[in-house]
Amino acid sequence: MTALLIRGGHLIDPAAGVDALKDILLKDGRVAEIAGPGKLKSANGAEVLDATGLTVAPGLIDMHVHLREPGQGYKETIASGTAAAAAGGFTAVAAMPNTVPVNDSPETTRWMLAPERGAVIRVFPIAAATRGSKGEAINDYAALKSAGAVAVTDDGNPILKDNVMRETLIAAARVGLCVIQHAEDTRLTQGASMNAGAMAFKLGLRGMATEAESGLVERDIRLVTELRDTRVHLHVAHTSTAAALAAVRQARRSGLRVTCEVTPHHFLLTEEHVGLYNTNAKMNPPLRSAFDRDAMIEAILDGVVDAIATDHAPHAVHEKEVEFENAPNGITGLETALGLCVRWLHKEWKMPLGRVLSLLSAQPAALLNLKGRGTLTVGSFADVVVFDPKAEWVYNARETKSKSRNTPFDGWTMQGKVRWTISEGRIAYSRPA
Ligand code: DOR
Ligand code: ZN
Repeated sequence: MTALLIRGGHLIDPAAGVDALKDILLKDGRVAEIAGPGKLKSANGAEVLDATGLTVAPGLIDMHVHLREPGQGYKETIASGTAAAAAGGFTAVAAMPNTVPVNDSPETTRWMLAPERGAVIRVFPIAAATRGSKGEAINDYAALKSAGAVAVTDDGNPILKDNVMRETLIAAARVGLCVIQHAEDTRLTQGASMNAGAMAFKLGLRGMATEAESGLVERDIRLVTELRDTRVHLHVAHTSTAAALAAVRQARRSGLRVTCEVTPHHFLLTEEHVGLYNTNAKMNPPLRSAFDRDAMIEAILDGVVDAIATDHAPHAVHEKEVEFENAPNGITGLETALGLCVRWLHKEWKMPLGRVLSLLSAQPAALLNLKGRGTLTVGSFADVVVFDPKAEWVYNARETKSKSRNTPFDGWTMQGKVRWTISEGRIAYSRPA
């Protein structure tokens, strides 16, 4: 592998406290040297990437994506999903287990990690918490962790039963894995296809009450509190309600290891975006009211939110082009996350770029315990994104690298354009200059 020299860029590495012009030398998949402009000692023979005027940062990490393999390669494959991720500036994604079959075994976990899958960036499988994600019998977490799993979840479904969730929290803590909960009390959401409220009433659709989310988050926090074990780590996936965030905020004040993620669509869109039954605005949890959306923004800005994750959930056109109630939940998100976060969190709401990047890299790396990622210091993995933080561009879903294009952000103006994505020292994505 030839060495890469990224020259003339502005390095922003929030975890290392760096925000300055730096040259970076990447060698053998690792960061070999970092120095002020023109000061590298050993860059002879390296391929040079001219990053003048660009931001250089630790590669983005998405802790919540659906890559659809095994079993649903017509929606996405590990190859196509990671290509879309690389185009979006991501160098690592954590893949949810609601595949076909469900990833509840070391064999499936290893299959996902095999070179034959053609991943162009790192994939970190998240294994099912329970057998078949049915919420009844917990899996062998030690075996799953040895096979490569970085967390456990039944995402797509909640772990509803108190005793099963308690057992999951205990067993995962024992092997140092975090439990990611899809917080939805499905006893309250049966047959519902959007947020409960005026819009659902107008459209004649059954709605999902916010309490279905917050109630389960409160139940989970109660379990964590009762366990009194500091190793227990509960992470709330795709938080969408003010009430759930309030519960997380309170748990944190009590010193509990309770973390959460928010998606770009939940801090940018509301139920109004469903419009006239737009199935590309249908996902679970659903787009909420402006009140909940504003609570997401506030919690991101004040630091209660630990990570931005996309919940990239590709579905084929023929699956989405049906009656709203029959359409599957989910939207794609890997190619639009950075452009939306820079455009809105940074430019519009004045969040320092370093903090935005931290939510997209250093913090998810820490939550999943991904050693040597989420930062660019000598010896860490050569996972890098180089982007123009000022460039505005318009997203065209037809040009996606994903196999699916079920996004509500088609035609939206983004800010922050990826130039190169480098995964362990190899160029995984390069946009023509
Ligand atoms: O919108 C969603 N899509 N929510 C989920 O919980 C599952 C996901 C999927 O797999 O499509
Ligand atoms: Zn989910």
